[in-house]
Amino acid sequence: MAATDVVVVGSANADLILSVDRTPRPGETVLALGDACRSAGGKGLNQAVAAARAGATTALVGAVGDDDAGRMLRAVLHGSTVDTACLRTADLPTGLAVITVAADGENSIVVVAGANSGLTELTDADLEAVTRAHVLLGQLEIPVETFGVAAAAARSNGCMVLLNAAPARELPDSIWPLVDVLIVNEPEAAEIAHGRDLLELVPAVVTTLGAAGARYTSRNHDDIDVPALRARAVDTTGAGDTFCGVFAASLALDMPILPAMQRAAAAAAAAVERPGAVPSIPTRDEIEHRLREAGR
Ligand code: RIB
Repeated sequence: MAATDVVVVGSANADLILSVDRTPRPGETVLALGDACRSAGGKGLNQAVAAARAGATTALVGAVGDDDAGRMLRAVLHGSTVDTACLRTADLPTGLAVITVAADGENSIVVVAGANSGLTELTDADLEAVTRAHVLLGQLEIPVETFGVAAAAARSNGCMVLLNAAPARELPDSIWPLVDVLIVNEPEAAEIAHGRDLLELVPAVVTTLGAAGARYTSRNHDDIDVPALRARAVDTTGAGDTFCGVFAASLALDMPILPAMQRAAAAAAAAVERPGAVPSIPTRDEIEHRLREAGR
C-alpha cells in the first residue's frame, strides 16, 4: 500500500456555534446573536482537513457515533479527501463542542468527548496506517495512551511525530521521548512546562503566538520567528488546528521548517477571517495566494 503523507490520530466533534456580543461571565446569562450554527469540528478532524486541503494525502484515525452528527462528519471528511478507513463508529454519541464566539472573534469552547473517549485501542489496520505515514499528528481530545501507542509505532518506523498539546493537561513522562515536535500556544506551554524548559522534554517546540505569529525553537538550531499575516479576525475557532495541519502537511511534503511555518501562519490568518472551524480552513491555492500577497 502507498504511504500516506499525514496520519492524524484525534478527535472529531460536531460544533454548535453561538455568536455572542461578549463571552458570559460566571453566573451571567447572555442572549445569542442570531441562530445557533452547527458545523464539523474537533481538533483531530480540523487538523486532518487542513492537511488535506494543503495538498497532503491524509488519513484520520478516530471515532464518531452512529448518529446524524457522525454521518455529517464523515461526509465532510470525504468531501475534503481525508481517508476515513480508520474512522470507527463507536457505541457512544459523536463528540460535541459548544462554542461561543464573541464580537472580537475570540472563542470559548466546552467539549463533550462522547465517541472520542471510546478511542482506547488501536487496531492492526490503524497501526499499519500509522507506520505508513511520513508524519503523525496528535492532540489531546482523545485518551493520551492511544496517542502514545500510535506515536511508538510511528517512531519505530521512522515517521516524524508531532503533538499539539491541546487542550493542555498533565501528560505521563513516557510520552515525551516519542515526540519530535511539540506545538502549543502560550497558555498551553506554561501549563505543560510546569517551570521546566520544554526543550528538556522534546527536541523542538513550535509556539503559536496569535496575532504575533509563531516561533520555532529547537535543541539543534537557531530560533525561527514567523510574523502573522495581517487578518481581520471574525472567528478564531480552528485557526490553531489549521496551523498544525498545514505545518504537518508541509513537513510531510519535505519542506524545510521556515517555509512550513510561513505556510502554516498564512493558512491560520485565512482561517480567522471566516466563521466556523472546518468551513474556515483554506485550500492550497488560497494559502499560496496569501503568501504571494504578503511577498513571502
Ligand atoms: O480547536 C477548535 C476545536 O476545538 C473545535 O472545532 C471544537 O470541536 C474543539 O475540539
